[in-house]
Amino acid sequence: MTASFPESRPRRLRRTPALRQLVRETVLAPSQLVLPLFVRGGTGIRQPVGSLPGVAQTSVDELVRDAEAASALGIGGVLLFGIPDRKDEIGSNAWDPRGPVQNAVRELKRSVPDLVVITDVCMCEYTDHGHCGVLEGGDVANDATLELLAKAAVSHAEAGADIVAPSDMMDGRVGVIRAALDDAQYANTVILSYAAKYASAFYGPFREAAESAPRSGDRRGYQMDPPNADEAVREALQDIAEGADAIMVKPAGPYLDIVARVKAATRHPLAAYQVSGEYAMIRAAAERGWIDGDRAMMESLIGIRRAGADMIVTYFAVDAARRLRADRA
Ligand code: PBG
Repeated sequence: MTASFPESRPRRLRRTPALRQLVRETVLAPSQLVLPLFVRGGTGIRQPVGSLPGVAQTSVDELVRDAEAASALGIGGVLLFGIPDRKDEIGSNAWDPRGPVQNAVRELKRSVPDLVVITDVCMCEYTDHGHCGVLEGGDVANDATLELLAKAAVSHAEAGADIVAPSDMMDGRVGVIRAALDDAQYANTVILSYAAKYASAFYGPFREAAESAPRSGDRRGYQMDPPNADEAVREALQDIAEGADAIMVKPAGPYLDIVARVKAATRHPLAAYQVSGEYAMIRAAAERGWIDGDRAMMESLIGIRRAGADMIVTYFAVDAARRLRADRA
């Protein structure tokens, strides 16, 4: 039984910063944040993305600088997306050992060896049609896509990636990727699967950053239907059964119930991806002076942690890590 007023006065514990801190249930640390980075060929390139203020496509040399800065702030890891020089029907640049992601991973492992390097494994940045797999009769062919994803994942592991993160939403890809990694002697490469990835309008700005918008149609035939929650739990359990070491829910903010349910059902390490549209909305409203951008950023991140995410992929990683350090000092 809990006491009620006047015995109980919940405001007593809210009176000072020190008291509030003492009873705080959720913490956010820079080490729990993962920064997405977009890499392309060339040198000295830093091309800002219009719809994602503060985010740029960079060449490997510039990317290493960003990663070093992130690491110095205590950020947990980086998530790499590649923008290839050429795209084709099957996305063959995805497993090119000299592709932008593979080059970036090698460089990062040389320059910042302790920073966790995660690679996004998908075909949409590499195919000329922009879908996440190979097309057969206008449809994304599930089983034919699996071996391409596995080749891409192995090439990332070969370059030195700590974690590969398949985001394509093909059925069975975790098992096929695990088997391919083990066969190639990469038994220690971690798989973080985008287990519950919804067909979301909030990916809009990302598709500009990654140049990966589908030429025709949409991704509803493979990404999840937003009204579904039980299905997210089934997807997560299936990926874990196939060998996923950690799982992801994406987007994060509009899907906090999914974060909580998947965490409760699996008790597995869980990542949530605060996607481009979530970031862009906060930045845009803050630019207009409609909200306090810094506070909205921190509140959105603590909400994702409170829902049950262990780590958060976010374009705010650097700003949030800076803010956390300033608060501590
Ligand atoms: C697909 C992929 C997407 C994102 C990450 N990986 C987008 C999509 O399905 O179109 C979105 C991330 C974001 O919006 O920030 N490989």
